[in-house]
Amino acid sequence: MSEESTLCASSALHVLLLLVQQSELAVPLRSLQKLTKAQRRHHTSLTNELIENMDKKATWDRFYTENGSKGQFKNFEWFFGFHSVQDLILPVLQSMSHSQSGPVNILDMGCGTSALGPCIYKTSSCAVKVTCADISSVAVKLMEKHANSTSAQPCNPSSALAFLELDCTQLRGYFGARSLDLILDKGTTDALVRSKEGQDKAGQILKQCLQVLKPSGSLLQFSDEDPDARLVWLEREVRGATLAADVGVQELGELRGVSYFCYQISPCTSEKVSK
Ligand SMILES: C[S@@+](CC[C@H](N)C(=O)[O-])C[C@H]1O[C@@H](n2cnc3c(N)ncnc32)[C@H](O)[C@@H]1O
Repeated sequence: MSEESTLCASSALHVLLLLVQQSELAVPLRSLQKLTKAQRRHHTSLTNELIENMDKKATWDRFYTENGSKGQFKNFEWFFGFHSVQDLILPVLQSMSHSQSGPVNILDMGCGTSALGPCIYKTSSCAVKVTCADISSVAVKLMEKHANSTSAQPCNPSSALAFLELDCTQLRGYFGARSLDLILDKGTTDALVRSKEGQDKAGQILKQCLQVLKPSGSLLQFSDEDPDARLVWLEREVRGATLAADVGVQELGELRGVSYFCYQISPCTSEKVSK
């Protein structure tokens, strides 16, 4: 996997440490060793509080506000950026576009301020309609403002790019059944399954994805979670869904000592027989 030029997090923990460092309550890391036992306990509890609340809009609004207040806009990439996965995504778009007449309908779910969606819009030679959606209004506004200020041109003149504030547990309220070709999830499910009350939300999101995906569509989850854990979780959640799906995994490679995976969840063409 190649290194990105944008601000990258080497791991989820690194991002959380950034969150802690940027918090007004935070203790600078260099002075950690000088902390008293009570202060160290406070620091650990703050980190835990942030990990536990990665399913909350307020956590992310605060993160993007602090990250965006440093001056010029810079995309923040969880795990890695578009260049690490373009060789996987662009051929998928090509093959989807060959089997339909309109643009390939793509959702970057929990886009944050990642350049993934805008890069697909700029790079894809086939027509795409990219929606970048996030629960954080701060992230969505930053992305919109940046896109308007740069007015990037798409590779295909029929392509479109949109930003949307949306709680993705409510996907069905916004997207029609069987309307999307591709849903991308880079770190969103990871954030939810690691937080205290996020597991149920991650399951709800997965089930909604299956409803809004076309039968030929796919959800791609980019993750650092080991297949031993993620496949078990995915297969359990899919068993509880009304629509059947196939689950697969592909190892993407290592970046800064961390292994990354792409989990592919695709609706089965036949409706699930009731259990
Ligand atoms: C780990 S970050 C990943 C951001 C981005 N995909 C990236 O690659 O940098 C998780 C993102 O999920 C968003 N999120 C969390 N819960 C959500 C929900 N219910 N609906 C939509 N977005 C959500 C957060 O606001 C945050 O931007």
